[in-house]
Amino acid sequence: MLTGAGVSAASGVPTFRGPHGLWSSTSAQTTPSTVEGWRRYRATDLATPDAFTRDPALVWEWYAWRRATIAACRPNRAHEVIAAWTMRNPQCRVVTQNVDDLHVRAGTQCLVRLHGSLWELSCWQRCAASPRTWRDERVPLPAPVPTCPHCGALARPAVVWFGEPLDPGAVEAAADAAACDVFLTIGTSASVYPAASFLHAARRHGAFTAEINLETTPASSMVDVAIQGPAEEVLDAIEAAR
Ligand code: OAD
Repeated sequence: MLTGAGVSAASGVPTFRGPHGLWSSTSAQTTPSTVEGWRRYRATDLATPDAFTRDPALVWEWYAWRRATIAACRPNRAHEVIAAWTMRNPQCRVVTQNVDDLHVRAGTQCLVRLHGSLWELSCWQRCAASPRTWRDERVPLPAPVPTCPHCGALARPAVVWFGEPLDPGAVEAAADAAACDVFLTIGTSASVYPAASFLHAARRHGAFTAEINLETTPASSMVDVAIQGPAEEVLDAIEAAR
């Protein structure tokens, strides 16, 4: 299955798109500290290598705010049901675009984190002495703009930004997961590639496909069954019916 921000919405993690989403088209005036404030920024102001080059302090402020927001959130029923499925069935694999790690905290097995994790950092200069990523769950981080403990260069959140390639190992694992009999796409706007392409791959493979989403997306007309509703309720009902 493929999951997106909608799976974490009931936990209180803001989604990216839609009326209450984080990305908007107007530009920002001031440094915000609330979801309304951050909504005034565009994705390109905050989630690109160029944005980090231009203003690492602003980008880190955005990630520090998201880390603090998410640290106060708990996995919801959608995460729990998905985790239970992966524990019961080792063939059940989850590919997520979410960087909040709520699937991890729910105990999900066989998880591919396509866009990385907010709780990991990496060296901006990719110095040879540092590991590719390292875990740092401190909230708040001790320095407003963290540095690489190995070379002293800036550290960055180990997430995939717009314009950056995905980790080839993660893409391969996701493609492998899409070669399945049943493929669910849950709580994603199906608008960001290559994540959205795994539904196409599953269809080519002959999988039965289903979508769970509050609204219609580009995936809705492609799947065998499109279920309109909150993931936490729909998944709970499916689990209760087993
Ligand atoms: P989006 O914010 O684009 O879409 C969230 C989807 O979840 C929307 O289609 C909502 O209708 C749906 N939704 C909201 N609440 C829901 C609920 N309770 N139950 C079911 N569906 C619900 O988030 P993603 O598709 O995950 O990438 O976005 C994909 C990528 O774009 C993100 O990983 C991020 C972003 O820019 C990077 O940062 C690289």
